[in-house]
Amino acid sequence: MPDSTVRVAVNGFGVIGKRVADAISLQHDMELVGVADVASDYRVRVAVERGHRVFAATGEAGEEMDAAGIPVAGTMDDLLSQVDVVADCGPKRLAAANKQRYQAAGVKAIWQGGEKHELTGYSFCAQVNYAGAVNRDFARVVSCNTTALSRTMHALHRRGWVKRARAVLLRRGTDPVDSHAAGMINTVVPETKVPSHQGPDAQTVIPDLDITTLAGAGPFNLAHIHFAMVETTRPVSVDELRDALWDEPRIAFVRAGDGVVAMNAVVELMRDLDRPRGDMWEVAVWEDALAADDREVYLTFQVHNEAIVVPETVDCVRALTGIEVDGAASIAKTDQSLGVTKTFLPATTQPIAHVTDADVAHPGIAAVRAAHARFAEVGFKGSEEPTDDAST
Ligand SMILES: NC(=O)c1ccc[n+]([C@@H]2O[C@H](COP(=O)([O-])OP(=O)(O)OC[C@H]3O[C@@H](n4cnc5c(N)ncnc54)[C@H](O)[C@@H]3O)[C@@H](O)[C@H]2O)c1
Repeated sequence: MPDSTVRVAVNGFGVIGKRVADAISLQHDMELVGVADVASDYRVRVAVERGHRVFAATGEAGEEMDAAGIPVAGTMDDLLSQVDVVADCGPKRLAAANKQRYQAAGVKAIWQGGEKHELTGYSFCAQVNYAGAVNRDFARVVSCNTTALSRTMHALHRRGWVKRARAVLLRRGTDPVDSHAAGMINTVVPETKVPSHQGPDAQTVIPDLDITTLAGAGPFNLAHIHFAMVETTRPVSVDELRDALWDEPRIAFVRAGDGVVAMNAVVELMRDLDRPRGDMWEVAVWEDALAADDREVYLTFQVHNEAIVVPETVDCVRALTGIEVDGAASIAKTDQSLGVTKTFLPATTQPIAHVTDADVAHPGIAAVRAAHARFAEVGFKGSEEPTDDAST
């Protein structure tokens, strides 16, 4: 592990980029050098308020920022000359065009789920395939829905339980920031392409996962919701299902029995917990909606599309730059810094655990548990840590 911190740029300070920038700023082993955008509106002004150095992504944008009184730290080339890695959070499809620019600058790059797998050849979800991204030049953090499917299905797939998975997902109609421009009302729009892209996309992360997804969009902007039915290779009990999900990082339970009866209640819970922007980085699985029969298990979960990929992007920075080769340790550092939890209400709602010895012996589970325990106990001190500690 290098002594110095890695220098990071965020290109595109929108829904995802502003959250990634804030999260990078919290990491002890990273320095946010600056953010780039083309806009001069309130969102970029907030970047200045937060103390981020703002770079103009294009010459024209620089002139507009100057005219709007936004202090411009430099051009995109200036920014790229000062960083090791860029998290490109620009608009989908547009961001892909930056690849040559990053290559020419000798900068590693991370794209988001709006880009195709082929752009980087590596689709990333930290708890599934961190190791394969270590020291790569480019990777793509998969989309919000694919991240949620990867996390939940990985919990089952790593145990050899998945014969065939099917999921129906209802996407938010638009993001809150765009609700005035693209809100839908009193309707649900089914996708006519079957399978919807999320299933094949999950296979770019878990190649041998047999999964089919159907999708639609509804008149809400808070989150997405998934209903998954997984045909299992043997009868799996609800207790086993609960334990498998409990042992997977970045999945947390909510309960209708606690009054968390709907999408809005999950959002209210995040607000009440003083999450920044009400963000939920975890997949929220309804514990009291878990079900099983002899052939299948059933899960219902909520995905905060604006937030779920943020910890993944932070981990991807560590993987590409090689400052942390142990995925479990990176997950633990990121989770510690953001406040990602397994239990939203630990003081009053204890998890019901039925963990078997075989589960605990699983190296992936044991590593994440050990890393979480270590960082919870000592706190993450980044480069002040003994260099051999993070890889144990
Ligand atoms: N919004 C979501 O729910 C969500 C969830 C997961 C992944 N993603 C993915 O994240 C990526 C970003 O999506 P978003 O929702 O944050 O988009 P967004 O539109 O909110 O943000 C994009 C930002 O890029 C800026 N921009 C536009 N042109 C630019 C350029 N040439 N150079 C630099 N910046 C430029 C815009 O001004 C804006 O601030 C996409 O790939 C998207 O598919 C989005």
